[in-house]
Amino acid sequence: MKTPCIRITRFGPPDVLQAGEVDIAAPAAGEALVRQTGIGVNFVDVYHRIGQLHGDGPEPPFIPGVQANGVVESLGPGVSHLAVGDRVAYANIGIGSYVGHRVLPAHRLVKIPDALDDAIVAASYLRGLTCHYLLKRLYRVQPGDTVLIHAAAGGVGQLMVQWAKRLGATVIGTVSTEAKADFVKSLGCDHPIVYSTVNFVDEVMRITDGQGVPVVYDSVGADTFMGSLDCLQPMGIAINYGTASGQVPPFPLQRLHSKSLSVCRPTLRTWIAKQSDLEIASSEVFDLLADGSLRIDIAARLPLHEAAQAHRLIESRTMSGAVLLEP
Ligand SMILES: NC(=O)c1ccc[n+]([C@@H]2O[C@H](COP(=O)([O-])OP(=O)(O)OC[C@H]3O[C@@H](n4cnc5c(N)ncnc54)[C@H](OP(=O)(O)O)[C@@H]3O)[C@@H](O)[C@H]2O)c1
Repeated sequence: MKTPCIRITRFGPPDVLQAGEVDIAAPAAGEALVRQTGIGVNFVDVYHRIGQLHGDGPEPPFIPGVQANGVVESLGPGVSHLAVGDRVAYANIGIGSYVGHRVLPAHRLVKIPDALDDAIVAASYLRGLTCHYLLKRLYRVQPGDTVLIHAAAGGVGQLMVQWAKRLGATVIGTVSTEAKADFVKSLGCDHPIVYSTVNFVDEVMRITDGQGVPVVYDSVGADTFMGSLDCLQPMGIAINYGTASGQVPPFPLQRLHSKSLSVCRPTLRTWIAKQSDLEIASSEVFDLLADGSLRIDIAARLPLHEAAQAHRLIESRTMSGAVLLEP
C-alpha cells in the first residue's frame, strides 16, 4: 500500500521538504499499522532538515519527523496490549513521522485517553515528555527554587513554565518580544525578560539579588549558553537541551571550576528508552493535559503537504504556539 509522505533529498531551506508517496508493508510480528491523524512539528525537525546534527542525525534521503499520533488500523502477530481502533501516540521511534500511515513497534505506542483530542496530543506529547525529564528527573525542581527558562513562549517553553510553577518554583523566562512576554506572564511566568533588548544575565542577577539560579534550561544554545553559565549560583547546572540559534561553541572546562558548575547536553531519547520510563512520563503528561493543569497554544494546523510552510512558521519566531501537520 502507498501513503503520502514528505521527503528530504538534500539539506537546506524549507523548500527541500517535498511531498511524495512511500510504500508501507503489512505489520510484522510485534508491529502495528497506524493511520496518523496528527504529526507534531518539533524544532529538531529543523535541525534534521538543515543538517545541523551532521554525524549525529539522518543523512538524505530521509522522511523527517519524530512524533505523531493516530489510530491503529491493523496489528501484526503477538500484539496483545493494543486493539484495532485504539488511539495511540509515539515519540522518538527513529525519524519518519511525516507520513499518512506508518508501521511501528507496537510496544512503543502509548494509548491516548479519551479526554484528549488528536491536535492537543500532536502539539504537546513529545514536548511534555521533555518537560517531564527536565523538571522532574535531570534536575528536580523544588518548591522555592528560582529557575531560568529560555525561549519560554515556545512549544516546550510554555509547558515548562506551567509545570515549573506547579512544582512551586519562581520562574524567570526569556522571550524575544513584548507580546511573548505578556503571553508567558499569562501562563504564570513571574519574571519575563525580553532577551532581544535586555541583557538577560544582568536581569537574572537583579531579580535574584545577585545570587543566581540553581538551574538554567537553555534550548537556544549558541546565543545564550555562556550567559546561562553566568546566571548560575554555586553548584548550579546549565542544561543545554536545544540549539535553536546554533550549537554551543567549545569552551574550556575550567570555566566551570570557580563555582563548581555542571553542564548537561541531554536528549529525550535516552530518558524514555526504558519502557517503564516512557509509560510513567506519558501518563503524567496526559493526566496534566486532561485535567487542564497544562495547556498549549496551537498556532497552526496544516495539511501534511504544507510541511515547508510549517517549518517556515516554526523558524519565524513570530508565534507562541505549536505547529502541527494533519495527513
Ligand atoms: N533535548 C531534548 O530532549 C529536546 C526535546 C524536545 C525539544 N528540544 C528543544 O527544545 C526547544 C523548543 O522546541 P520546540 O519544538 O518547542 O520549538 P519552539 O520553542 O516552539 O521554537 C524555538 C524557539 O527558540 C527561540 N529561538 C531563539 N533563537 C532562535 C533562532 N535563532 N531561530 C529560531 N528560534 C530561536 C524562539 O523563541 P524566542 O523568539 O522567544 O527567542 C523560538 O520560539 C528546541 O531548541 C528543541 O530542540 C529538546
